[in-house]
Parts: sequence; structure tokens; C-alpha cells
Amino acid sequence: MNLLELHGVHSHIGAYHILHGVDLAVPKGQLTMLLGRNGAGKTTTLRTIMGLVNASQGNVWFSGQEITSMRTPDIAGKGIAYVPETMGIFSDLTVRENMLLAARSARSHEGFDQKRLKWIFQLFPAVERFWNHPAGKLSGGQKQMLAVSRAIVEPRELLVIDEPSKGLAPVMINSLIEAFSQLKSSGVTILLVEQNFNFAQKLGDTVAVMDNGRVVHSGDMAAFAADEQLQQSLLGLAL
Ligand SMILES: Nc1ncnc2c1ncn2[C@@H]1O[C@H](COP(=O)(O)OP(=O)(O)OP(=O)(O)O)[C@@H](O)[C@H]1O
Ligand SMILES: [Mg+2]
Repeated sequence: MNLLELHGVHSHIGAYHILHGVDLAVPKGQLTMLLGRNGAGKTTTLRTIMGLVNASQGNVWFSGQEITSMRTPDIAGKGIAYVPETMGIFSDLTVRENMLLAARSARSHEGFDQKRLKWIFQLFPAVERFWNHPAGKLSGGQKQMLAVSRAIVEPRELLVIDEPSKGLAPVMINSLIEAFSQLKSSGVTILLVEQNFNFAQKLGDTVAVMDNGRVVHSGDMAAFAADEQLQQSLLGLAL
């Protein structure tokens, strides 16, 4: 069963026609990797899902309900969390305050769900270590971990994450891979944009490859990872 589906989605940014009929399916409980060269339309696809860019044609379905022209807060309210490339962290606030801002229930009940917080600390130890430090002091990788922690501070059905490995050192990427695989085991459905093919290959169950504002290939990650010729032609990778 697919938790998220895009059917023939077109998007414009100003005068530019960016997405040209995106078809995408995200199976429930799986991690779907969205790959593609720079400028292929990956970020625009995520922004269109979140209602930050309006689809000019086609439709988006989440959990059996059409969300195409819903407002972003209502889409988020359906249980979709979005971690943008820019991460959306407030540098002057502490890690704790950043987490608090992300948790609607924490604000009304004066506290976090402690069991959930322990789970997040176990996934991302840096979040606990720097709990009372300004988020601006964190390293790039630690900020990325905080950004994902904010997205899961409350139960979500779908996590939509844009290039978490961008600019990170290999050792940081490895700890992210470990955390994502644990997150995956917890049953969350994830749609992840990635440039790092090693990262993508280790975590992805399914894959969709974009080019020129369309999905030009989709299927099993294992099969795609084994087909170097296909990777070469779609991503231009020399592995
Ligand atoms: N605000 C904008 N105004 C004009 N064109 C834009 C804007 N944002 C994106 N584009 C264009 O839309 C196309 C798709 O961009 P998008 O950011 O979705 O690609 P991407 O696959 O995420 O690329 P990257 O891997 O570099 O992040 C690109 O050609 C880009 O130049
Ligand atoms: Mg992008």
C-alpha cells in the first residue's frame, strides 16, 4: 500500500515550468530514495508535496486523501514532517528550545513525551549532549540530527527529508545512516532526497530517479544498485 502518491504533478515557480508530470509512489513503512542530478526537480517535488509550491496540474494523495491544494500547516497536521535543505533550525535558541518549538503538545502540556525523548536521545546522542547549548554551536552533522529530531518529536506517519548528508564528513554520514536505519525499523515511512549514492543504496528500499522535472525510473533499490549501467545513464555516476 502506498502512503503517498503523486499523479502527473506539474509545478511552476514564477514563470518557470519546473515539474513536468511527476508520478511518484511512496510505499508505507518503507524508505524511498529520490535521486537525480542537480536541478532535476527533487527539492521542488518535496516542496510541492508540502504545499510550499502549488501544483498547477495533477494531484497528491496522502493516506487515501487528496492533499493537493491544502495549506502547508494542514498538510503537516495530517502527519507529514518536512526537513528542508536549510534545516529550519533557530541558531540563537538552545537545542531544547528548538525541540520545544517543534512539539505542539509539549507547548500545551508543559513538557515533552519523555519516552519519545529518550528514544530520540538514543538515536541522536548529540541532541542530548548539547541540550542546553545554542543550536548555532552545533556542527553541520549535529544540526542535521537536530533537524530530524525536531521532525520526530511527535509521532509522524511520513518524514520528508531533503539531502541530510549534504556537506557532512564520512564519519558523520555513517552515524546518520545508522540513525535512519533505526528510524526505519521503528516503522516510520520516509521519503529522502539524496545525492550520495552510497548513503542511498544502504538505506533505500525503493528508488525513484528524477530528470528534467519527471520521474524517469522507479523500482527496487537493490535492483537499481546492482545495475551500474542504469545508474550511469540516469545519474551519470562513475562508481
Ligand atoms: N525559486 C526558483 N526560481 C527559478 N527557478 C528555480 C527556483 N527554484 C528552483 N528552480 C529551478 O528548478 C529546477 C529544479 O530545482 P530543484 O531545486 O527542485 O532541483 P534539485 O533536484 O533539488 O537540485 P539539487 O540537487 O541541486 O538540490 C532547477 O532548474 C532550478 O534552477
Ligand atoms: Mg535540491
